[in-house]
Amino acid sequence: MDEALDTTLTVNGAQVTRRIPARMNLVDFLRDELGLTGSHVGCEHGVCGACTVRVDGDIVRGCLMLAVQANGRKVDTIEGLSDSGELADLQRAFHEHNALQCGFCTPGMLMAAQDLVAAHPQATRDDIRDHLSGNYCRCTGYHAIIDAVEEVLISRRGGKK
Ligand code: FES
Ligand code: FES
Repeated sequence: MDEALDTTLTVNGAQVTRRIPARMNLVDFLRDELGLTGSHVGCEHGVCGACTVRVDGDIVRGCLMLAVQANGRKVDTIEGLSDSGELADLQRAFHEHNALQCGFCTPGMLMAAQDLVAAHPQATRDDIRDHLSGNYCRCTGYHAIIDAVEEVLISRRGGKK
């Protein structure tokens, strides 16, 4: 039987404590225990990026991290970033560029895009492609996603290309 461990973490600014099976991964915990279903589960092997969340400021694959490893740490999900307005310009740009179709990849894609635009404001189009290369999209062909992220980068730079 899987051992359970008491775990306390901060999720989207709120502290939560749960007894968690030692082998439960972080994205399953967020979805099944906390009802935060914005983080999606695709490959479950760290390949597709659908499960991307932020832990202590760094983006991670939620399917590759055990929930108990988040003990004492700060986790942000697409719900938290969306509620805080941190993603508002990226969400608007994705909408305006039709950078989503089925939407399955979109939460992870937005988390990864936000990580880029916040940390690398001078990022180029090639940098965007490189940074998002671990987030798979089966629908859009990526061009609209790259256009949307580039627009936000330029806008946050005050219009400088
Ligand atoms: S579900 Fe985690 S990378 Fe695909
Ligand atoms: S919009 Fe469908 S997988 Fe990206």
